[in-house]
Amino acid sequence: MARPKIALIGAGQIGGTLAHLAAIKELGDIILFDIAEGTPQGKALDIAESGPSEGFDASLKGANDYADIAGADVCIVTAGVPRKPGMSRDDLLGINLKVMKSVGEGIAANAPDAFVICITNPLDAMVWALQQFSGLPAHKVCGMAGVLDSARFRHFLSLEFNVSMKDVTAFVLGGHGDTMVPLTRYSTVGGIPLPDLIKMGWTTQEKLDAIVQRTRDGGAEIVGLLKTGSAFYAPATSAIEMAEAYLKDQKRLLPCAAWCDGEFGLKGFYVGVPTIIGAGGIEKVVDIKMTKDEQAMFDNSVTAVKGLVEACKGIDPSLA
Ligand code: APR
Repeated sequence: MARPKIALIGAGQIGGTLAHLAAIKELGDIILFDIAEGTPQGKALDIAESGPSEGFDASLKGANDYADIAGADVCIVTAGVPRKPGMSRDDLLGINLKVMKSVGEGIAANAPDAFVICITNPLDAMVWALQQFSGLPAHKVCGMAGVLDSARFRHFLSLEFNVSMKDVTAFVLGGHGDTMVPLTRYSTVGGIPLPDLIKMGWTTQEKLDAIVQRTRDGGAEIVGLLKTGSAFYAPATSAIEMAEAYLKDQKRLLPCAAWCDGEFGLKGFYVGVPTIIGAGGIEKVVDIKMTKDEQAMFDNSVTAVKGLVEACKGIDPSLA
């Protein structure tokens, strides 16, 4: 059986890391696509040359022509501009919306059966625009945010409790970053929910609130440290987890920006929700009942995303 084909649209910091991880995990053959000439070719060759030491079987190719992504099984989109210090994800809107138009058209023409994972920010609006521009079925287009936000939350919780990250689970909903909604009652250490851990004296509500805030600001914290770009290792790892769930039909329950069609009271709208990812793409959006406080945070997040979607429609009337 031929190896799956993985197209990485954008060969920058995240794109290169995606390619390296996909090769090491032998998820398939990899096409790195970018408008910058030389960059995808250079990274493809560099990573291919790590193959003999790493011992992977995967071919890597750089490309500047969408024809090279023909028939891709998975497309992971990072094309666009990342944040600089002082910029919010929303500042990127106008620039990256244009990029989503060309990427959406390129995917539609060359890889219409692919499972598409968008990473470009502002995520929830860009994945919506990408689905609209590409016209691909909504259950085959999703955005990577929740896996990253919950990974950051899990990391910080493991530091607080001094336990392995493997034993910490986290449940997050809503838009990426600032309006993320952590569901602490569904987040656990070894199955013990966080509110119970407060009662057991493992932590305090104040400390937990500070961890939630640090998670929300997780992207900005890294932008502030790097100064010349934004996070790329953890975002790439998170998207690879989603791609692997699709390629291996793992039926993983992962939070991601998915098209809601009645779930969570939303119709025709992308936001971070729990989903099941398998060979069918987003096979299910897992609707859950929220408490009043959680619902208020979720509504706030939805309002923020709706604002960005409306702004997209204002910039490009073909989306209205
Ligand atoms: N088509 C294809 N590639 C493009 C296009 C385009 N129209 N416009 C820009 N690119 C490429 C750039 O040439 C660059 O190589 O996208 C790549 C982006 O890479 P980086 O600048 O290194 O950004 P990165 O850190 O990978 O982040 C990409 O993901 O998390 C988000 O906010 C982040 O939106 C940003 C995206």
